[in-house]
Amino acid sequence: MLKLNLADFSLEHFMAHYWQQKPVVIRQGFDHFTDLISPNDLAGLACEEEVESRLVYKKDDQWQAEVGPFESYQRFGKEGWTLVVQAVNHWSPEVAELVKPFAFIPKWRLDDVMISYATPGGGVGPHIDLYDVFICQGSGRRHWRVGDLGEHKQFAAHAALLHTEPFEAIIDVELAPGDILYIPPGFPHEGVALEESMSFSVGFRAKSSCDLLSGLADYVIDKELGKALLSDSKRPICQHQGQINASDFSIIKAQLQAVLDNNTLMADFAGSYLSKTKCALDLQALDEPLAAKEVVNELLAQPLLRTGGLRCLYVDETVTQGVCYIEGERFDFGPACQQAVVALCDNDALSHALLERGLQNPEFVRQLTEWVNAGFWYFQD
Ligand code: SIN
Ligand code: CO
Repeated sequence: MLKLNLADFSLEHFMAHYWQQKPVVIRQGFDHFTDLISPNDLAGLACEEEVESRLVYKKDDQWQAEVGPFESYQRFGKEGWTLVVQAVNHWSPEVAELVKPFAFIPKWRLDDVMISYATPGGGVGPHIDLYDVFICQGSGRRHWRVGDLGEHKQFAAHAALLHTEPFEAIIDVELAPGDILYIPPGFPHEGVALEESMSFSVGFRAKSSCDLLSGLADYVIDKELGKALLSDSKRPICQHQGQINASDFSIIKAQLQAVLDNNTLMADFAGSYLSKTKCALDLQALDEPLAAKEVVNELLAQPLLRTGGLRCLYVDETVTQGVCYIEGERFDFGPACQQAVVALCDNDALSHALLERGLQNPEFVRQLTEWVNAGFWYFQD
């Protein structure tokens, strides 16, 4: 298993002084780090319809970006281009391993593992990201510049490329295999490949209020909640017909606030919303479905592995009822299953012992079997 080495500071120091605050280079964060997927296999993935990918290069000094799937890479030549593939942790169990050393950040904050393969001189240009990213250097070397927070003008260098104006560097480094560059949201940065190279970016995306409110609106519509109409019985006689007076304004705000104050509704929304993936999962349904008994027996023999990128969460507010949220859905197994639900969400590999209490509950076993047959979890052999 990959182990993160922070030679110059402790994890606590990193969280207190760098996380969400300032960029830092972690030299040899991974000892003897080698590519978790080959450039060839990465290029192959970007030929698949369900995989999100982009190829960025310059033509006559103009930035160009093409969206995958790609059929061939021959026309791009040997220099000056980068292939970026999203959510590779969904498609490669080896790449999914790279999420584990970052388990000091909860899963609900994780976005995905994005990988870029670049030929010499290749890069995606100077830009600003909205997420925290750990850029782990694989094979080859890349030159990275990171600027400070500030009023950086952004512009579309191409319809699919949001760039930022040139910036002064506060970090100017060459990354070698095993080095990690951590960049919080908002810091402009640019990487240029010094030779053929691979970067593995573990991204953590925080939601904006706009994201959350639009997600909440979708949730209440979908679940047909929040339908009670605003009530203003015993209203005093209105003096100014065009006015929304202070008292009415309070009623309107209170109506919305009542939704936010409903902890069960909000826990169910947060769990469902945050457990949905934005990219496709590699769900491989079993050709010959297993019976519930077979799943339980197999669990005694080998671990049950979670498919890369599948998001399983619980919220303190509802977990006491044995509730968890998986891929946007709410599952309710009852209070006796609390421990099993926690184990299901906290572990990538499940054993019979970990799920013990849940396996005594027929509904838990039925649902687990359904998940295994649909490919959410799988036995290696
Ligand atoms: C890259 O790996 O080329 C781009 C990563 C980033 O800047 O976020
Ligand atoms: Co970036």
